[in-house]
Amino acid sequence: MKEMSRRDFVKTLAIGGAVLGLGNAIVHKPLEALASGKYDIGQCKSVRIKCISELGWYDTKKLIGQMKAAGGPKTNQWIIPWDPKNAAGSCSLIDMEALDGTHHKFLIDTGWNKEYMEKCFKRERIDKMLQSGEIEFLFISHEHLDHYWGLETVLKYNPKIKIYIPGTFYSEGRHFLRGAEFITPHASNRISHQGKLVQLKPGHINKLYDGCAGVAFDLPIVIRVRGEESLYFNVKDKGIVCVTGCCHQSILKFADFAQEKIVGGGNMYGVYGGLHIAPFGPMNPDREHIVKGMAKYNFKKIACNHCTGLVAVQKMVELGYPVVRGTGRYGSKSDLYVGNGDEVFFG
Ligand SMILES: [Fe+2]
Ligand SMILES: [Fe+2]
Repeated sequence: MKEMSRRDFVKTLAIGGAVLGLGNAIVHKPLEALASGKYDIGQCKSVRIKCISELGWYDTKKLIGQMKAAGGPKTNQWIIPWDPKNAAGSCSLIDMEALDGTHHKFLIDTGWNKEYMEKCFKRERIDKMLQSGEIEFLFISHEHLDHYWGLETVLKYNPKIKIYIPGTFYSEGRHFLRGAEFITPHASNRISHQGKLVQLKPGHINKLYDGCAGVAFDLPIVIRVRGEESLYFNVKDKGIVCVTGCCHQSILKFADFAQEKIVGGGNMYGVYGGLHIAPFGPMNPDREHIVKGMAKYNFKKIACNHCTGLVAVQKMVELGYPVVRGTGRYGSKSDLYVGNGDEVFFG
């Protein structure tokens, strides 16, 4: 594994004198287990999810070629000379309705290419919602470039926004939060985060609202990323909705965790996000195993996108799964899944 050289990591910027110190970072207090050994995350009325962008990049062949040329899947993402023109990004807006009718909005991930994300934000009014404080926090699923490197576009509109990260973040990701420029991969954040930074300890269930919890999973991920945090919603009279960035932990592990540990987890309702099944290539027996394994949860709505390869979505349709369709616009490559600018409602 290559280490980041001092030349690659240029500088940490202190803008406005508000560099994030360790004192600002807090670890979320996890829920306590009930006598049953399960955790009660409460219930919400509904969850509406707007896909701001699910398109991680434009040209997969180019992306893979650049990764291979730089040393392969174990190479640190921060030292690979990515083509900035190939960057897009993943970002979604959650609107959860509590049982009393109040709404809570937050973002999952920031996308990658800042100019691209700016356009997406303007299209969906995310800029305005960030500025007004209507978006309560930013939940970063994992450090991957297509989920995290667009951070500046969020901070530009609200540098004080609360941010959740998995406690497994590497030092480069933490530097990035404070304001940093990495020359080789063309990644920069010129705005220092000034709000609260909350870190989720892997394996713990962290209630964010009644009916919404975040859980970080610790695992090594391709191009030297570690850990991914995902969300569970418990929708009253419907069941559990699993929401992911890339789901590198696998949808089977993610759904099993809810079934084993969360009150009501035996009743799965839906899933949203990237499922990381055949993102770059054809189906194979391992990938088939995951898709077929999803049958046991009896999901009522499967709203997958991003790193769920089209072949995997086609397989789900073939198996009769309730795949939520989209419109195939704003750069999304197919209307077979929930794409850019599309919305899915769980409630
Ligand atoms: Fe991704
Ligand atoms: Fe990823």
